[in-house]
Amino acid sequence: MKSAPSTNPGPRPAQFLARRRSLLVALLVILALGVAGGAFAWYKFFREEPQPEWITSDPDMRFKYGSIGAERDAGIPYWIFYVLPRMFPEKLPGPGGYAAFGVVWEEGQELPVGFSKKVVGFPRVANNCASCHTTSYRTQADAAPVFVPTGPNHTLNLWAFFRFLVDCAKDPRFKADNLMTEINLVTDLSFIDRLLYRFVIIPITRKRLLEREQQFAWLYREDFPPWGRGRDDAMNLTKYFMIRWPMDDSFGPTDMPSLWNLGKYRADQGMRMNFAGDSHDASSVVIDSALGLLGAPPKDNAEFLGEVRWLIEYVSAKRAPPYPFAIDTAAASRGKQVFASTCAGCHASARTGTVIPLAEVGTSPERVGTWNERAAREANAVVAGMGIERPGLVEAPLTGYVAAFLDGIWLRAPYLHNGSVPTLRDLLEPPVQRPASFWRGYDVYDPDRVGFVSSGAEAERSGTRHEVSARGGGNQGHVFGTALPAADKADLLEYLKTL
Ligand code: HEC
Ligand code: HEC
Repeated sequence: MKSAPSTNPGPRPAQFLARRRSLLVALLVILALGVAGGAFAWYKFFREEPQPEWITSDPDMRFKYGSIGAERDAGIPYWIFYVLPRMFPEKLPGPGGYAAFGVVWEEGQELPVGFSKKVVGFPRVANNCASCHTTSYRTQADAAPVFVPTGPNHTLNLWAFFRFLVDCAKDPRFKADNLMTEINLVTDLSFIDRLLYRFVIIPITRKRLLEREQQFAWLYREDFPPWGRGRDDAMNLTKYFMIRWPMDDSFGPTDMPSLWNLGKYRADQGMRMNFAGDSHDASSVVIDSALGLLGAPPKDNAEFLGEVRWLIEYVSAKRAPPYPFAIDTAAASRGKQVFASTCAGCHASARTGTVIPLAEVGTSPERVGTWNERAAREANAVVAGMGIERPGLVEAPLTGYVAAFLDGIWLRAPYLHNGSVPTLRDLLEPPVQRPASFWRGYDVYDPDRVGFVSSGAEAERSGTRHEVSARGGGNQGHVFGTALPAADKADLLEYLKTL
């Protein structure tokens, strides 16, 4: 036989050709399997489904239940989240499942306000801003609760919630067999999903929760009191989670602030954000808070910053709700004069929104001690490293506390940055006459003292005790107005209700 024309490189042995063909087929099969496996893994672990329309199409619902993207890295698998309180009721601070943490919970909702549910491969639960920045109150014990998105959550026992999750993961009963038994009681997962839960999702969740233990070590310190309801040690959270500093001895839990009408804070007029003025502007605080919730760099910076913009617009458009009880208008207008001469110099002037030196305001210094210039520089570098630009944290020593705008002050009890004074009436008394111990976290309002009911059987049952002698709890300082005649104080109090 003759060989083919010279353009042909020559005949190849049939065997060689066959081997090459089967290699190609094998490669294609592997590739196809790989693609299918990859697609399967992507579908089961990473595909993102939009949240339902009742959440995304209504701004209030979106703020309360909408995802800010935290499910991806900080989320807890929905069914694990669901069964934990049933499996470990002894680790809850009281009866009633998650309600024992004082979460704000609207009737008919499957999750509390501030908890978002989203499918990222599988349904996951995470937190959004509303967990700390939505409040509820009742005008009397038998009234229905009123919910106020952007109001300060004064009932949430975040300290206990953080510890609960870690404590569950540390318990030897936190293992696939036990969790699957509980999960199978409440839902009917497919065969595949059961396998995934058992062999992947449960072990990874346990590992993730245990990883937090070290960063939360300060929550277990015997020499620090619990934060108590409505408080959170925000700058220490930033130190231990964002810039991963070793634990130090500072301790400065604060109240959750209100976010309504956020646009009133004007960075261009020298105003600062956060209680100690540690951040330059609202967008920086919102970015940092959202990054804290995500627990990881955003997947997509443009999408993340879009969410931040929406949040800022939403909270800026909100206004404080009006005082829900009768106001003596004649007394209030006399009180306005008292306010103008005693309070406006800080709370309605060029000083408003700026830092007042500690020596002048005289309140507890602990919160100032939780943060410093170096921490600010490092945190700014972390955020810049993600490719996110913002004015950021103030790279200078902290010197005092911000004289806040007082809109909606009636709903911001207890008072001062550390929530050490239960009512406005108490704040107008000299520190020694303010309550040395009271209960915080009960949601029934006291229109006589202007603040929440903070003593009595019901307040004790649902609240946590605040001792002003405990670390970070001091109620000293801010003596402004305390020497006024009783009639002036009564008028001033009436005026404060109108803000
Ligand atoms: C875990 C509770 C918690 C969550 C969640 C949370 N915050 Fe906050 N936020 C706080 C606390 C506490 C402070 C006060 C910190 C301080 O000064 O010590 C604060 C401060 C702020 C401030 C500054 C307010 C002021 O008057 O100075 C803004 C703005 C803010 N948060 C917005 C947000 C946004 C937006 C989100 C969601 C992306 C969010 N926060 C999530 C607890 C929370
Ligand atoms: C010299 C400035 C100054 C004057 C005058 C002043 N305040 Fe304040 N006020 C502050 C500062 C600073 C804070 C924050 C202190 C803190 O939280 O530790 C504050 C906090 C408050 C708070 C607590 C806010 C909250 O969210 O808990 C209330 C209420 C308040 N002031 C009302 C008044 C009233 C009423 C007067 C007049 C009788 C008055 N202030 C006079 C500077 C001032």
